[in-house]
Amino acid sequence: MIDPSIPRDFQLGVATAAYQIEGAVGEGGRGVSVWDTFCAQPGRVLDGDTGAVACDHYHRYEQDLDLVRDLGADAYRFSVAWPRIQPGGTGPANPEGLAFYDRLVDVMLARGIEPVATLFHWDTPQALEDAGGWLSRDTAERFGEYAAIVGARLGDRVGKWITVNEPHSVTLAGYATGAHAPGHALLFDALPAAHHQLLGHGLAVQALRAANVAGQIGITNVHTPVVPASDRPEDQLAAALYDLIANRVFEDPVLLGRYPQAPEPFAELFGAFGAAPAEDLAVISSPLDFYGVNYYYPSRVGMADPDAATDHTPEGDFARVGELPFAFAEIEGVPRTGFGWPVSSAGLGDTLDELRDRYGDRLPPVYITEGGASFPDEVAPDGSVPDPRRVDYLREHLAVALRKRADGLDLRGYFVWSLLDNFEWAAGYSQRFGLVHVDYPTQRRTPKESFHWLARRLRERG
Ligand code: NOJ
Repeated sequence: MIDPSIPRDFQLGVATAAYQIEGAVGEGGRGVSVWDTFCAQPGRVLDGDTGAVACDHYHRYEQDLDLVRDLGADAYRFSVAWPRIQPGGTGPANPEGLAFYDRLVDVMLARGIEPVATLFHWDTPQALEDAGGWLSRDTAERFGEYAAIVGARLGDRVGKWITVNEPHSVTLAGYATGAHAPGHALLFDALPAAHHQLLGHGLAVQALRAANVAGQIGITNVHTPVVPASDRPEDQLAAALYDLIANRVFEDPVLLGRYPQAPEPFAELFGAFGAAPAEDLAVISSPLDFYGVNYYYPSRVGMADPDAATDHTPEGDFARVGELPFAFAEIEGVPRTGFGWPVSSAGLGDTLDELRDRYGDRLPPVYITEGGASFPDEVAPDGSVPDPRRVDYLREHLAVALRKRADGLDLRGYFVWSLLDNFEWAAGYSQRFGLVHVDYPTQRRTPKESFHWLARRLRERG
C-alpha cells in the first residue's frame, strides 16, 4: 500500500493525557486524584505500576515539545489535570497548577504547535469521588466551575477545547466493571455516571463560551462499530444493546438532544435516562464547533453464554462481573496489537459512515482525536526502534480517514495516540503506544521508526 499524502489543511496532531505522562503527583500543589488512590490498591494495576513518575513530563515538557516540533505535527493534544487546578475539586484555583499549563501552552506556541486542551481525561479529584464522584450531579456542576477557571486563563491561546474524553470508558470501566478508577462494579447502575459526565460536558461548553475563549469547542467520544457475533436473534439483540451502551448513549444526547431507547426486554435498564430532565438535555446538546472521535477497534458481540469462552474487553471481563448479557467474540483474520485488539482500518470507515448516517446535518466537523496501537517495542543495538506494525497501522488508518474525507465527510484531522509510551491505565507500563519510545528507568526518549515515517509524510506537504 502506498503512503497517503496528507493534505496541508488536514490537521495532524499527537495526543497525551496528564496522568499518563506527567508524574510529579506530589508537586505544584496538586491534589489527589482517583487514579492515585486506585493505583495504591493492590491488584488494581498490572505489576503495581502507578503514574507517580510516568514520563516525568512535568519536568521534561520542553524536551517533549521539541519532539512534537521535530515531528512536524500541527497540533498537540494534552490534558489539564483537574487536581492541579483545584486540588480538592472545588474552590479557588491553585496558582502553581495554572502556571504549569500556562507555560506549556506558551512553549507550544513558541514552537508553532497548536494547543488542544482536554479538560477531563479521567483524573477526578479524590475529594469529589468521596462525595459521590460522577454518580453525583454535584460533580457536573463542579466541573463547569473548573472549566470556567481554565477557560479564563488559557482561553486566549488554546486552539481547541475538548471538554470530556471518552465518558464511555469512565462509565463502563470506572463505574460498571471496576477495571479502572474509581473501581466500582455497579453494572447498569453505573448509568448515572454517563448522564453526569455528559451534563458536565454541557456545563463546560457553556462556561467556555461565557469565558469567550478564542478556540473551538468539542467533546471526544470513543466509537466502536458493533457487529453481531452471528445472525441468531439473541446475538443481534445483544449487539444492538451494546451499540447503544458503547456508542449511542454518549452520542445521541450530545448530537440529537435525547437518549436512545433500549430494545425490549432491556428497556427498563435505561429508566434513569428516561427520567432525565429536558433542561439537562438542552445543556448536554449545546452547539459544538467540532466532534471528536477516538477509534481503536470494532466489536463483535453476542448474547452471553455462561459455558462459552469470551474475549476480554478493555472495560474488563463482562462475563466475570456477571449479569451483563454480552459476550465478545473474536474478530478473525486480522492482525492484533500488543493489547490483543483487532487491527481494522475498515472499522474506522464503518464508524465514520455510521456517524454520517445517524446524525447527518447535526454532525459538526469531525476530528479523529485518537487512534493508535500498542506493540512491545524495543530499542535495537543500533539505537533505532523498529515498529513496522505501527507504520502499517497509521498508513492504513490515515488512508481510510482521507478517503472518507474525499467522499464528503467534513473530517478535519487525525491525532495519533500517543506522542510517548506512557502509563496505560490498568495495564500500567506494559503497553507501548508511543511514536517515541520511553526507557522508564533513564527517561530516555527515542523516536521510533513510525515517528520518522510520519515526519517524512509531514515534510512532503511542503
Ligand atoms: C483512549 C484513552 O483516551 C487513552 O487515555 C488511552 O491510553 C488510549 N485509549 C489507549 O487505550
